[in-house]
Amino acid sequence: MPATVVIGGQWGDEGKGRVVDFFARDCAVIARYSAGSNAGHTIVNERGRFALHLVPAGIFYGQKICVIGNGVVIHPQALVSEIKMLEDRGVDTTQLLVSNRAHVVMPWHPVIDKLDEQLRGEHAIGTTGTGTGPAFVDKAGRLGIRTVDLVTPEALEQKLRFVLEYKNAVITKLYGGEPLRYEAVRDECHEYGELLRPYIADTAVVAQDAEARGEQLLLEGAQGALLDLDSGTYPYVTSSLPASIAAGACIGVGLGPRAIARVVGVYKAYQTRVGHGPMPTELFDADGDALRDHGRAQGTGEYGTTTGRPRRCGWFDGVLARYTARLNGVTSVALTRLDVLAQFERVKICTGYELEGQRVDTLPGALTAMTALEPIYEELPGWREEISHVRTFGDLPPAARAYVQRVEQLLGVPVDMISVGPEREQAIVTRDIFGGTL
Ligand code: IMP
Repeated sequence: MPATVVIGGQWGDEGKGRVVDFFARDCAVIARYSAGSNAGHTIVNERGRFALHLVPAGIFYGQKICVIGNGVVIHPQALVSEIKMLEDRGVDTTQLLVSNRAHVVMPWHPVIDKLDEQLRGEHAIGTTGTGTGPAFVDKAGRLGIRTVDLVTPEALEQKLRFVLEYKNAVITKLYGGEPLRYEAVRDECHEYGELLRPYIADTAVVAQDAEARGEQLLLEGAQGALLDLDSGTYPYVTSSLPASIAAGACIGVGLGPRAIARVVGVYKAYQTRVGHGPMPTELFDADGDALRDHGRAQGTGEYGTTTGRPRRCGWFDGVLARYTARLNGVTSVALTRLDVLAQFERVKICTGYELEGQRVDTLPGALTAMTALEPIYEELPGWREEISHVRTFGDLPPAARAYVQRVEQLLGVPVDMISVGPEREQAIVTRDIFGGTL
């Protein structure tokens, strides 16, 4: 049972990139299984600081096979420039493989993403505008272009004529936008097809062969469980199919469910969200600003990797964390950015909600209910003490240890890793999730 899934337990931006980067050391194959270039992973290592949107965070280890699975939608230009950026900075990308079944974010997708948000007006989702959502819509609507089409020009041209005509009708008649020119789109596809040809492969077979050899695979989720199409704060979610929750990992890479041995849930020590939608513990006061702007001067404040938007910040939501831990079958928690909390006299954790005079202990299904939740907080002593140099659990201030233990209790899952700063070594690992000794 060789696969480990890494998922985000909140609304994305939990720090999955650095957790994947950490665990990738012990794995032979690292694969992204869902979403698209809407996702942004920040990794800081000896080569510097990197923002990745499509390439798996395992790429920095050189000899590992890095897969962009069939569940990911690929913006060719974004991928080509990411590969170039990595090569220019001395990172070897020859081990990168892109699924031949992955869908392509076509030039009309970002156009439709923006026009659709305008049409929704006050009901806009607050998308990243990358075209990711519309690409998934076309995948399910059976109008998608896949990477295999990019490298088979005759088949592509036939498909493109029909699909572009259809999409231009939507752009002009529904949204009142400008149509796209067939020749320009075709030439762009040919160009990117040639650039990406060396990377395109049947990656499901690669993953299955690795599984058969008993090698460790790391399956890297994007976004967070609360943005999941089925179980998240619908309709303020992302459109990934397969879902970015752990259950989507097998579909998005091409493995059977029995391949999954463990699920690492990555949770920030507090809560953040970008885009619109319910967020029960959101803070609108100085505490919220303090969470957002901690480390801003060093580039580690709460501002989006993909869009640069300020993130909404709030106290840790224990109810939602438990909800997503159960939903994903989390076996290990990685708690990130604990250092950011080291500035408060007292810290709060939400342990329940009040809704119309009743106590609620899980995420309700209705949007109206989600928006009306009043958090019930538990207050814990803070620790106004720098912890970014700490490397063992025992060396944390007692109040920080108590905070971590309370999170463990609420989730019913051990916290096996804690990050206390952006650098690779700024982590406290309390248990080797692969079963070895530390
Ligand atoms: P979309 O995925 O661009 O369609 O955006 C849908 C929602 O998901 C919006 O609220 C986005 O802000 C959010 N979202 C998408 N990708 C990420 C991410 O990587 N981190 C955090 N939020 C994201």
